[in-house]
Amino acid sequence: MCGIVGVLGRNQVAPLLVEALKRLEYRGYDSAGIATVNDGRLDRRRAVGKLVNLSDLLVHEPLAGRAGIGHTRWATHGAATVANAHPHRAGGVAVVHNGIIENFRDLRAELTAAGYSFESETDTETVALLMRQERDAGKDARAATAAVLARLHGAFALCFLFEGEDDLMICARKGSPLAIGHGEGEMFVGSDAIALAPMTDRITYLEEGDWAVITRQGAEIFDAEGRRANRAMTRIQIDATRIEKAGHKHFMAKEIAEQPVVLADALRHYTAGDALNLPADLDFRAVERLTLVACGTAHYACHVAKYWFESLAGLPCDIDIASEFRYREPPLSDKGWALFVSQSGETADTLAALRYARERVARILSVVNVPTSSIARESDLALPILAGVEVGVASTKAFTCQLAVLALLALKAAQDRGRLDAAGVAAHLAEFRLLPGLMNHALTLAPEIEALSEHLAEAQDVLFLGRGPMYPLALEGALKLKEISYIHAEGYASGELKHGPIALIDNRVPVIVMAPRDGLFDKTVSNMQEVMARHGKVLLISDATGIAEAGQDCWETLTLPEAPALLAPILYAIPAQLLAYHTAIAKGTDVDQPRNLAKSVTVE
Ligand code: G6P
Repeated sequence: MCGIVGVLGRNQVAPLLVEALKRLEYRGYDSAGIATVNDGRLDRRRAVGKLVNLSDLLVHEPLAGRAGIGHTRWATHGAATVANAHPHRAGGVAVVHNGIIENFRDLRAELTAAGYSFESETDTETVALLMRQERDAGKDARAATAAVLARLHGAFALCFLFEGEDDLMICARKGSPLAIGHGEGEMFVGSDAIALAPMTDRITYLEEGDWAVITRQGAEIFDAEGRRANRAMTRIQIDATRIEKAGHKHFMAKEIAEQPVVLADALRHYTAGDALNLPADLDFRAVERLTLVACGTAHYACHVAKYWFESLAGLPCDIDIASEFRYREPPLSDKGWALFVSQSGETADTLAALRYARERVARILSVVNVPTSSIARESDLALPILAGVEVGVASTKAFTCQLAVLALLALKAAQDRGRLDAAGVAAHLAEFRLLPGLMNHALTLAPEIEALSEHLAEAQDVLFLGRGPMYPLALEGALKLKEISYIHAEGYASGELKHGPIALIDNRVPVIVMAPRDGLFDKTVSNMQEVMARHGKVLLISDATGIAEAGQDCWETLTLPEAPALLAPILYAIPAQLLAYHTAIAKGTDVDQPRNLAKSVTVE
């Protein structure tokens, strides 16, 4: 979603702003712009589409100045046009914004009645015009900001720049995160620390409701009540090289490839020899029910985890999509725990769901990739998945690391609840140690998958089928494929095939069956036969035993190594990711930044 950057620099800032926006590209966007103050004069450049369009514009119409703000916009209110692109400007104020101003219609009506006119369809322009109104009434930048912030409802991050002020930026955070970066005689603002990584490693995160007046000398931070607030400065360890493609064509390819390594790191972190190494106060004995909530791929990780918590630990689980959960207002038990899973830790619906659960359950846990994120900070216990920065919009390594951490939690729950003894846990952990090797093996299927993806790229519709914990994997496989190749794909529980999707089957619809040779295999194979009897093209993904037993009449087969049942969903994620990746390559789509999608969904 929208990315924000601001620089009060020592030299020309336009190149720094564009560079920082490049590092925010992963969030997803459809237009971009920057504004600077040069000799007191405020000016801006904006362009639709990729950042290269803005860079090209800046070659022809450069923008000088040592103070500037920049933005990548993911359209919410109004199409991706230059007029709707940020920064928005009214009089002597320019603003960039991430999030949604929920009361913008009322504000817009009020401003229109007061004689102000709008150039865009955005909610953001109301903020610029409110600032103008306050400045017209004689308030200075600081007083005007305080007055305007008090009038805005919704979730947002804002950064303002002012005509005549070469040494001033004001930024504010409510709902959407914002980081202030400290340099030597320079100051920065960014949606996240990644944007600022090469410029500074000294970061102050604004807290909910904070706003800050920034000059080159430093930042004065105020809380929601306008009191001076002290917020700690931390040194971040985002090594800029870790967000490079490291020789891969795409971030997604790199992130798929590094899964065995990051997963091994996560396992090392949460185990000590033959035992689990989870926080001592994490005790599932008295937990009555576990409610797992997330969005997108993280939701599918919860879906797999439900099978584990229920079968291994006998712990009843509810899973829900965050946007449904928060409005369904489900009754929760004060003897239950809620667990929120989020790569970014900033997904607006997941965060709102967490806040709903706050007073209603005994404990709030989260499984996140960004330990400084809002969801992590608002949890009683946040367990990082340690996947490293994930840039590709389609989540890959975060998914498998989420699964690994959730599986370890399920083992802990099983142990606490007397379903597994120490030896049982040790046996599962021994299996886990095989996982990086098994994943490496799965990655060697890439050339085979690439070849059959050429055919998949011609399909209009694709079905994914799975049973048990492979059912959510089928859902995830379909999500990955549609996200980045734009082919319509559906995931189904194999047993549901007869209740509808079988009507779609003909010789043009590839059906991808994910079925390790486990206790459910025969049932899944029966469903597969039903597809083949109707001339469906089946791609069977199984292990050698499964392929030997049922692969004969399939259109294609992919052979994965034999894996312990607990690990199969993690292992089978790899061919699903590779199928989506290579099909997207065959179709020539933008793999890392698929159309219309955003990495961190900070609006509802
Ligand atoms: C977006 C991303 C997905 C992700 C989902 C939830 O849709 O494109 O990859 O699964 O948000 O994000 P979260 O950061 O909460 O895991």
